[in-house]
Amino acid sequence: MTVHFIGAGPGAPDLITLRGRDLIASSPVCLYAGSLVPEALLSHCPAGARIVNTASLSLDAIIDEIAVAHGAGQDVARLHSGDLSIWSAMGEQLRRLRALGIPYDVTPGVPSFAAAAAALGAELTLPGVAQSVVLTRTSGRASAMPDGEDLVNFARTGATLAIHLSVHVLEKVVADLTPHYGVDCPVAVVWRASWPDQRVVRATLATLQTAIGAEMERTALILVGHALGSDNFDESRLYAGDYDRRFRPLGTEPRFPDAT
Ligand SMILES: C[S@@+](CC[C@H](N)C(=O)[O-])C[C@H]1O[C@@H](n2cnc3c(N)ncnc32)[C@H](O)[C@@H]1O
Repeated sequence: MTVHFIGAGPGAPDLITLRGRDLIASSPVCLYAGSLVPEALLSHCPAGARIVNTASLSLDAIIDEIAVAHGAGQDVARLHSGDLSIWSAMGEQLRRLRALGIPYDVTPGVPSFAAAAAALGAELTLPGVAQSVVLTRTSGRASAMPDGEDLVNFARTGATLAIHLSVHVLEKVVADLTPHYGVDCPVAVVWRASWPDQRVVRATLATLQTAIGAEMERTALILVGHALGSDNFDESRLYAGDYDRRFRPLGTEPRFPDAT
């Protein structure tokens, strides 16, 4: 018996890995995390599967469900939105399972920041503009930010920021970032990336709040950085015609003479 933690992707039901889909199909129990996991994924569950929405359950109750399945020798497919490595609450479940000696494995999923970048048709790391992406959030009622992990500190780097769980505090986001990125810095907000009702607003730090108006839907990602707006960036050296590389040796004395 194994608990399969599976990244369910950002929303579109076909943005799940084949491995994730097959594990759902072979598990007689499926626990899924509320409205951000597309219901269509549940159609992969085998006939007669026990399917539980865990949105209203406490951690104790979720572990009880898993312990019952463990006692019956039944695999569990445990679905969380996006990828499991960020804001999935997987860590605390794994810690309980380790203590109980219940086996588990983890199958990654498409994170929402990648789906949002895809919706924008944007590469977040452009040569000479930004070479880092910060996946972050602002403080919430349930989770305070640790000291030092604040937007102002990240803004000092000039990296592209992918700000989760924060569209309701847009005014503060704009106030924290503007001194570092400048009023003309491009921003995009993507709601429900990859869902049929996906919505995108592109603006600058100066115009963002007006552009968004009174939008209430919170499942949104804020992307900020100069990589979002500019065609003024360097081409990657890797593909430059004069760049001697392992897979394309050049000249009479290539750097990697034995490479094929
Ligand atoms: C609890 S976190 C889950 C993150 C998830 N594990 C991931 O890999 O993206 C929820 C936040 O992720 C972002 N998010 C999740 N799905 C999204 C989507 N389809 N479109 C835009 N943002 C999304 C929003 O910022 C939302 O408030």
